[in-house]
Amino acid sequence: MAHTRTPSNFYKPLAIGAPDPYRAQPVRLERMIHFVPPHIEKIRAKIPEIIAEADVVLGNLEDAIAADAKEAARAGFIEMARENEFGGTGLWTRINCLNSPWALDDIMEIVPAAGNKLNVIMLPKVEGPWDIHYLDQLLAQLEAANGIARPIGIHAILETAQGVNNIEDIAGASPRMHGMSLGPADLAASRGMKTTRVGGGHPGYGVLADRDGSNKDDTRAFYQQDLWHFTIGRMVDACLHFGLKPFYGPFGDFSDADACEAQFRNAYLQGCLGAWSLHPSQLAIAKKVFSPDPDEVAFAKRIIAAMPDGTGAVMIDGKMQDDATWKQARVIVDLATLVAEKDPDRAALYDL
Ligand code: GLV
Ligand code: MG
Repeated sequence: MAHTRTPSNFYKPLAIGAPDPYRAQPVRLERMIHFVPPHIEKIRAKIPEIIAEADVVLGNLEDAIAADAKEAARAGFIEMARENEFGGTGLWTRINCLNSPWALDDIMEIVPAAGNKLNVIMLPKVEGPWDIHYLDQLLAQLEAANGIARPIGIHAILETAQGVNNIEDIAGASPRMHGMSLGPADLAASRGMKTTRVGGGHPGYGVLADRDGSNKDDTRAFYQQDLWHFTIGRMVDACLHFGLKPFYGPFGDFSDADACEAQFRNAYLQGCLGAWSLHPSQLAIAKKVFSPDPDEVAFAKRIIAAMPDGTGAVMIDGKMQDDATWKQARVIVDLATLVAEKDPDRAALYDL
């Protein structure tokens, strides 16, 4: 406790003239965080089309951008921020990690040039609350000096063993915290997991069905398991505990749309609000997975209609409903309502 700000100070701006921090994260639809490499001119030319399709557009400056393209990516991001109107679509950037030679210039150049358009900075390889405090203070100073009207959020990537161990301290480090994404590639390396994949399962990770005595010809079933189940659950609990938004991160095998969809759906069912899309095909997958299923929405609406004040117990189609399922139904209907505001086709499917 001695090392945390008191409740009365927690929501004060960290620099005189910086905007007040949000007390709750703004309600926004963020089904996918669509990554673009901003140094590529051909991609920058497509930003208006991407804005129309994606909930969040993110200019990536970190991994996957070669060392000799870092400055061009930063300049390209500033250009794409300046030259486009984003409307209800979020504009984020993933800066380089704090121990790299590029992070400080990323922050110092982008905030003055594009801070009034930037919603969120994604911070990679967060190890503990000290990383958040550093960026928090620096952003407040830059916001104050540059007349930035809204606080810029921080979204941490959960991708080191130390970061996972410090997850609650990271989540509670600042009111600037927007949420977290699972980074399965770096996390696998940091933990010493024996996989070369970016997200998804592994054929070796699973459980073998019992021997059944009569079975002499070795036909025991093997059930592959989700390698990320534990960490996603841990992340969802930490995020929701602090009022933040949890996301699944990247899925590297663009050729396997089914496996991508399955990984995204596991994350969605466990509580995540979105995932990264690294390829246009994944944008469509995320849109499908992170928008509630119309049948589920219809059933949730029946629960709410049957229990107008959210209390009591009723039966619907042989299934018991009570205050808790009413709350589950609210989660689905609130999400459907948010989707419907943006997406007329789905609004019709949801009858909203
Ligand atoms: C994402 O950055 C990852 O490392 O998976
Ligand atoms: Mg990473």
